[in-house]
Amino acid sequence: MHHNIDRLQAKAAAALLGGGERRIEQQHAKGKLTARERLGLLLDEGSFEEWDRFVEHRCSDFGMDGQKVPGDGVVTGYGTINGRLTFVFSQDFTVFGGALSEAHAEKVCKVMDQAMKVGAPVIGLNDSGGARIQEGVASLGGYAEIFQRNVLASGVVPQLSVIMGPCAGGAVYSPAMTDFIFMVEDSSYMFVTGPEVVKTVTHEVVTPEQLGGAGVHSRKSGVADLAIANDVEALLLTRRFFDYLPLNNREGPPRRPTDDPASRSAPALDNLVPADPAKPYDITEAVFAIADEGEFFELQPDYAKNIVIGFTRLQGATVGVVANQPMVLAGCLDIDSSKKGARFVRFCDAFNIPILTLVDVPGFMPGTAQEYGGIIKNGAKLLYAYAECTVPKVTLITRKAYGGAYDVMASKHLRGDLNFAWPSAEIAVMGAKGAVEIIFRKDKNDAQLIQARTDEYQEKFANPFIAASRGYIDDVIPPQESRLRICKSFAMLRDKRLENPWRKHGNIPL
Ligand code: HXC
Repeated sequence: MHHNIDRLQAKAAAALLGGGERRIEQQHAKGKLTARERLGLLLDEGSFEEWDRFVEHRCSDFGMDGQKVPGDGVVTGYGTINGRLTFVFSQDFTVFGGALSEAHAEKVCKVMDQAMKVGAPVIGLNDSGGARIQEGVASLGGYAEIFQRNVLASGVVPQLSVIMGPCAGGAVYSPAMTDFIFMVEDSSYMFVTGPEVVKTVTHEVVTPEQLGGAGVHSRKSGVADLAIANDVEALLLTRRFFDYLPLNNREGPPRRPTDDPASRSAPALDNLVPADPAKPYDITEAVFAIADEGEFFELQPDYAKNIVIGFTRLQGATVGVVANQPMVLAGCLDIDSSKKGARFVRFCDAFNIPILTLVDVPGFMPGTAQEYGGIIKNGAKLLYAYAECTVPKVTLITRKAYGGAYDVMASKHLRGDLNFAWPSAEIAVMGAKGAVEIIFRKDKNDAQLIQARTDEYQEKFANPFIAASRGYIDDVIPPQESRLRICKSFAMLRDKRLENPWRKHGNIPL
């Protein structure tokens, strides 16, 4: 018996050590934690249950039969975050650079399969040199098995990817199909083809950081939802983020107690919108003023900044926020902001998270760059997402709601449940100046007449009352009452039931 226990202990110790002391030191020298240290920070203390720590690869080519490390480069299992269940895998760069073998893939698939059966999220900590080169197509098959599970899990359990090292080649497509990607600055990168191939094919000379670092993906490409300074912060932020998410698509949004009364008025909002309609203001001030305890977890804060997305809580329950940002491009909808908003709306809808939409939008962005880039199909993504979604939708128009963008931003016509407007709202086909230039083109040389017509249009349409008279706006409210009215609306909508007609799936304009 003793002999058996000794053997277990020896094997367990080998599994714990991964690729060995030297490689662990190298990992630390790069400012990175090991796979196990990361799980220690991500999960509640003592909650991690590891599976498959004795799994080994089955490759015998290129001298691999003499190089077996128990666990084979990935630590897998389940644990809790603030008491709530999650499945995890954490790639171990000290073992063949975290490269994915067939056995490594099987371990990842096992936790994904179990997560689907019990209805709990999957969090992947990625740190890998990609396909295990010695294994060839067996490794590629392993990736495809993971991809297939990513797709089947999409909309069933939340999937989060934290990129904490290399993630290159086809390997990027697994995180790409998960719901959220967080990247660690300076030590992580994602690209389909690396700098060497880029140099050969396009003659561009770039570093890995310039090609696919956290800065690139959080600012330029929109692939990443957050860029975070280091491993520790990334894991702690992932814990905070996890608290906003339901465990699966059959649960409602998580709730937690709050001391912030729904009736709290927010007098600062009465002065948020400037008297001059051309002047910008920061819409996140409205979000902070409405949110429980002024908390807002913003996603993609540095990408397509003309739209703001993220999670907050109202009366303790998670709510998704989508808001036009007048500080950037006057809050216009363009290709990037439409895609950013649409994907977020679809996540909320898939996981029963109610949506609060704050509207101040002068329309879709004009120009050849936008038209050639397909603003028609890309703008339609946001329209489609809002029209398709059945979760509770509360909309507040703070200022402009012009043209097609009025329709798109969770309008009454797209099944908005409660649509409010502040007295400063202007709901019209377009701004007064543009409208008069078109309908009174023949009078364009009569400045006085044009001004009179503009004033008339402004007076007639630049307010919320015509829309309210038709019931398109349920009520015009003083800004300081916004939190109360929005909280009451979501409380009323808590048991909302709405189903779309049966279909295999719709055909969102991709
Ligand atoms: C096997 C690998 C490996 C791999 C790294 N290692 N990548 N072993 N398969 N893909 C091993 C190294 O041999 C080394 O072993 C250890 O991991 C650490 O690697 P280093 O190169 O010393 O580390 P570093 O300098 O930090 O460079 C990391 C790296 C580099 C940039 C990831 O290792 C690299 O370029 N690797 C190859 C990447 C690649 O081309 N992968 C295939 C992509 S195609 P020792 O024993 O010395 O410690 C792909 C297709 C997926 O992934 C398709 C899915 C559909």
